[in-house]
Amino acid sequence: MGRKFFVGGNWKCNGTTEEVKKIVNVLNEGQVPSQDVVEVVISPPFVFLPLVKSLLKPDFHVAAQNCWVKKGGAFTGEVSLFHSKFKFDESCLCSAEMLVNLGIPWVILGHSERRLILNESNEFVGDKVKYALSQGIKVIACVGETLEQRESGSTVDVVAAQTKAISERVSDWSNIVLAYEPVWAIGTGKVATPAQAQEVHSELRKWLHANTSPEVAETTRIIYGGLQLSFLMNVQSSKGKNSLRSFYANVNSCVLGYGAVMAAVLARVLQLPFWRIHEHVLCMYLFLIAFGIPVSGSVNGANCKELAAQPDVDGFLVGGASLKPEFIDIIKSAE
Ligand code: G3H
Repeated sequence: MGRKFFVGGNWKCNGTTEEVKKIVNVLNEGQVPSQDVVEVVISPPFVFLPLVKSLLKPDFHVAAQNCWVKKGGAFTGEVSLFHSKFKFDESCLCSAEMLVNLGIPWVILGHSERRLILNESNEFVGDKVKYALSQGIKVIACVGETLEQRESGSTVDVVAAQTKAISERVSDWSNIVLAYEPVWAIGTGKVATPAQAQEVHSELRKWLHANTSPEVAETTRIIYGGLQLSFLMNVQSSKGKNSLRSFYANVNSCVLGYGAVMAAVLARVLQLPFWRIHEHVLCMYLFLIAFGIPVSGSVNGANCKELAAQPDVDGFLVGGASLKPEFIDIIKSAE
């Protein structure tokens, strides 16, 4: 039997009650392929889990965006926290037990935003995957390389090490979906093409074949979740790493972004006919770089078909576009 297409919608930290109701309405009314063709899992922020679960049609399932590595405890006010600088080794959060109690069947673990911003290590993510599975929660486990790692040619090593930390702790892969997210900053001008996504997915499948079993490699769904970072997030994520490469990436962002707006301003001031044609394009370019609006890399209604056609792309983990009606088109790309 082939691998069933999987589409996850990660709402990240977005939404109000009214917005949640509107999105759920769009999802419930969308004409999408049956559950036999595609598995759809929606991941709202923690506070909206019960609401979304109660409103969403039963064809779609719900996922938490994280859960703790062991049973809960005395950490007043925490919902989901791990940061090495706090030196907590027992921070209590939304535990897997709580998800079971709420009837939430899925959880996203190891998302790049948590790995990068909250310093979650491969081992820590592996431990969380193991614990969630032990409690009966299915896991969307995220792997992916940063820009520096891709440029230094270590993409496959990085995603292999992240996957290894899971495989060392887990033998049954039937309740794991592997999500590949290339963490490239748009300010650097790097673009994940469908061919590049396929290449890494294929390498991941080969790794599973060699290091788990041919059956696991054949049956595990590897989904694509592009990620764009704004220029500001790019700086934030490379802070303190003292990396010359990320410094140049950020300078590159600055030069491209602010150079573009300067060119547009000059064109307007000097009334240059050639540049005037392009000034709006240049301004938009700066806007995109500065605020991280998806230019490329992210899955959307326009690129999903081509990505879905790749032999080792078994679905998507969608961020921004999962909050919009185009998410229905992404689900339909399963057909
Ligand atoms: O979890 C989803 C990924 O981070 C992709 O997010 O589609 O907004 O780029 P994005």
